[in-house]
Amino acid sequence: MYKWLDERLDLTSLYQKVLRKAFPVHHSFFLGEITLFAFVVLVLTGVFLTLNYEPSIREVRLPDGRTVPAAYASILYIDSLPFGAVIRSLHHWSAHVMIAAAFLHMLRILLTGAYKKPRELNYLVGLALLGLAVVTAFTGYALPYDNYAVTATRIGYGIAASIPWVGGTIAEVMFGGEFPGSERSIPRLFSLHVLWLPLLLMALIGLHLAIMIKQKHTQPRYAERVAPGKILGVPMYPQQMVIMGILFALYVGIMTMIAGAFLAHPVEAFGPPTPNTPAVKPDWYFLWLYGLLQIIPASWQFRLFGATVGPEFIGGVLIPGILGIVALLLPFVDTRKDKMRYMELPSEHPVRTSAILALLVFFLMSTLAGYKIDFQQQGSLLGNNAVLWTLVLGGPLLTFFLAYTLMRIFYGKKEEEKAL
Ligand code: HEM
Repeated sequence: MYKWLDERLDLTSLYQKVLRKAFPVHHSFFLGEITLFAFVVLVLTGVFLTLNYEPSIREVRLPDGRTVPAAYASILYIDSLPFGAVIRSLHHWSAHVMIAAAFLHMLRILLTGAYKKPRELNYLVGLALLGLAVVTAFTGYALPYDNYAVTATRIGYGIAASIPWVGGTIAEVMFGGEFPGSERSIPRLFSLHVLWLPLLLMALIGLHLAIMIKQKHTQPRYAERVAPGKILGVPMYPQQMVIMGILFALYVGIMTMIAGAFLAHPVEAFGPPTPNTPAVKPDWYFLWLYGLLQIIPASWQFRLFGATVGPEFIGGVLIPGILGIVALLLPFVDTRKDKMRYMELPSEHPVRTSAILALLVFFLMSTLAGYKIDFQQQGSLLGNNAVLWTLVLGGPLLTFFLAYTLMRIFYGKKEEEKAL
């Protein structure tokens, strides 16, 4: 069989060219792989869910006599199937893992300078992947069509519609009309969630991995000592594939246990949508945005060329947009010591490392602001807007200053400062 295929497809040269490539081994490289495993599990479990889900808000009658939207009823149906609730939970928790792992993978890339020449393009593909993963998760939010899902998605609809000049069009394309209300919203979000966005993710993941193989991985620093000038690692096939196979099996095993123990998003607890908005918060990866929306005063509003620029746009689009542009420009601004073969050490780059820590503190403090209403109900000082703003802006500045000073004390003057 192999001979037959080899004569036609020249498998031997494919094996020599691609599958014998050395794959450097370092624990931090598994973050990219975990992101990949989570995506594979999302696709597999998503197929099962799609086969049993009805993307419609038409009213249907449940066996207990209640009338509910068909989408909501189909989630109850999925939960009643053998292993249905576990598969749905596996899908839900894998979405969390994919976003967390992709974010940590990005931090590794930033901390070790792996975004520099020649990897700028793959870094940009990676940023697009992270953005798409978050948007895909968001489009899945509304699908159970319970009171929680509808309330949380409405926040996203408000942000999309708040974009000056084009907000109406973007909201129309994404939500198929006003959300909630339009009958086209669920079919639109469904097709984005199960077809267009996953296809785009698959294509970009393929491109990401192909570029990575072509350009070769950055290597851990010990490779410079052990085998200078050479690629040190295990062959892609069979060794690396076996390691990945074992890790994938471990991922599925651990996540299935978690899914069995912690069932995700119990729709019956929230009930079908009602005119009363329940007090809900979005998932952790949106909480920092939600926090910014909580502390930006309603008075931050002005007219610009006939359009209204308001708090929802400033917190939900402008601030994340500025962060995104800074991230996009990074490899073109930080061009010192490029064409790199080896991972840089965070301790050698105090300015970059301190800036990354400051960014993490910004995310944490904005997330804290997401609990503003709870703090107010407890009568805590943290319910005060001025205090929260001080933490959101002052926390990162202080972190930068402290981290930079400590790194200078412990690691001395390194090449980054000499270059500055
Ligand atoms: C769906 C999301 C993603 C998947 C599935 C993915 C997958 C991977 C895998 C498996 C690797 C090789 C192992 C490793 O270095 O960890 C890799 C490398 C890489 N990724 Fe990603 N990645 C994703 C998102 C990102 C993001 C958000 C960034 C940065 C913004 C990024 C930038 C890179 C770069 C520059 C490399 C080459 C690293 C080097 O040579 O050291 N990726 N990715």
